[in-house]
Amino acid sequence: MTLNLRLTYIFSCIITLAIAGTPGDVLQLDFPNVAIAAQDNGTLLGQSGENGDIHIQPVKNGSGTVLFDGYDVLEIIDVVIINNMPPIWHFHGHVGYSGTFEGASNIMIPLEVLDPESQDVRFELVAGNFPTGLSIASNPWRIQGIPPDEDAIYTFTIRAIDASDQYADAVFKIEILEVDQCLREMCHNNGQCNNTNTHRGFSCSCPLEYGGPTCDVTCNKTALGIANSSVVPDAQLSAYLSRYTSQASDGRLSESGKYWCGENANSWLQVDLGGLAKLFRIVTSGANSTFFAKTYTLSYSTDGTTFNSINDVNNTTVHTFMGSISALYQTLPEPLEARFVRIHPTTYERSYHPCFQVEMYGCWL
Ligand SMILES: *[C@@H]1O[C@H](CO)[C@@H](O)[C@H](O)[C@H]1NC(C)=O
Ligand SMILES: *[C@@H]1O[C@H](CO)[C@@H](O)[C@H](O)[C@H]1NC(C)=O
Ligand SMILES: *[C@@H]1O[C@H](CO)[C@@H](O)[C@H](O)[C@H]1NC(C)=O
Ligand SMILES: *[C@@H]1O[C@H](CO)[C@@H](O)[C@H](O)[C@H]1NC(C)=O
Ligand SMILES: *[C@@H]1O[C@H](CO)[C@@H](O)[C@H](O)[C@H]1NC(C)=O
Ligand SMILES: *[C@@H]1O[C@H](CO)[C@@H](O)[C@H](O)[C@H]1NC(C)=O
Ligand SMILES: *[C@@H]1O[C@H](CO)[C@@H](O)[C@H](O)[C@H]1NC(C)=O
Ligand SMILES: *[C@@H]1O[C@H](CO)[C@@H](O)[C@H](O)[C@H]1NC(C)=O
Repeated sequence: MTLNLRLTYIFSCIITLAIAGTPGDVLQLDFPNVAIAAQDNGTLLGQSGENGDIHIQPVKNGSGTVLFDGYDVLEIIDVVIINNMPPIWHFHGHVGYSGTFEGASNIMIPLEVLDPESQDVRFELVAGNFPTGLSIASNPWRIQGIPPDEDAIYTFTIRAIDASDQYADAVFKIEILEVDQCLREMCHNNGQCNNTNTHRGFSCSCPLEYGGPTCDVTCNKTALGIANSSVVPDAQLSAYLSRYTSQASDGRLSESGKYWCGENANSWLQVDLGGLAKLFRIVTSGANSTFFAKTYTLSYSTDGTTFNSINDVNNTTVHTFMGSISALYQTLPEPLEARFVRIHPTTYERSYHPCFQVEMYGCWL
């Protein structure tokens, strides 16, 4: 057999054991099945017989040293070969990692390498198109996160780096398939579902009576939140011809004991809902047995500039809403879309003033 070993790394030493028996031999030792020759150019040749091995072995087992060009061969092997080995990707074919995942759902891909020196290994993204929503996390090392819900293929390169900065790169190719959220019957109450590629991945177009992201809000039973200053801040309540010190913000339906009071039948209280809503019902509650609106009308607007009155079903007469001392609910003749609503008290106790609080029912658009 032939052994031809070259170690050329950092020590530039060249050792050659080759077939013996050439003409330049200055020393030739032959024995059945082994031949050793030293040549005049310095080459040492060794040859075993059929199927034999050649061992270079120190004089004493375990205490001698084999030197190559003055260096201990065991140290050369340790330093040159082992301690400079990069990490080796585990479970990772030569074409890289690939996998297919559902959009908008959690992904977890373990990052696993073996390091020949058993050093700690860290991972970095070095190139490519990495999906938003994913990140490289540790303990244990992995790629994790929630990718966008859309059909896409991402190819990127991750580098495993050991404590001596030896590294190995690996290519990942992952495919994301958009989930047809509408197959999951996300929209209730006969809402029409539409895949949208947004984070939730779908939108519902609700029938008139329903609202909310999945059409499960019953509009005529759901307060829009005028009562809640986090939903409709004070600045979105305004009034015309207020009585004395009453504030438009006193007009929220609440237990505050305060009411907005109009000066007369020309006064109005305006609610800016902050966005378009489908309106179904309104409730007013008067201050006490003398200060309340007996009747009122409503006008509405989408832009805050052009107001139309809320009319009866045939849209020929202005609709009259009934008010009371205590909370009285009134349904609009027909639901309508508006952002701004004005409450105009029209009749109230003579020689007193119309004072009330208000809330409206509907769904946000
Ligand atoms: C030494 O000589 C042998 C045979 O003549 C040849 O095979 C070998 O390559 C030579 N080695 C060098 C380092 O020149
Ligand atoms: C040398 O020592 C090793 C263990 O250190 C042993 O496996 C081997 O057999 C020994 N060789 C000889 C020739 O004694
Ligand atoms: C579905 O959503 C897309 C993107 O948001 C939109 O362009 C499209 O008009 C919607 N289709 C329907 C029927 O609502
Ligand atoms: C809401 O609308 C439904 C269907 O039109 C009706 O049956 C129900 O009585 C209404 N609820 C209120 C509180 O108006
Ligand atoms: C007021 O609205 C905020 C924001 O929507 C909500 O977190 C809070 O619970 C509401 N408060 C009440 C009393 O409903
Ligand atoms: C009724 O309410 C108004 C407005 O809050 C207030 O000015 C008036 O004093 C109240 N009257 C009685 C009798 O409580
Ligand atoms: C609306 O008009 C129709 C026919 O023009 C009539 O039958 C109906 O009574 C009217 N409704 C109202 C509330 O005035
Ligand atoms: C009612 O009629 C007016 C014009 O007289 C029109 O501007 C408005 O859009 C109509 N409203 C409805 C709900 O049909």
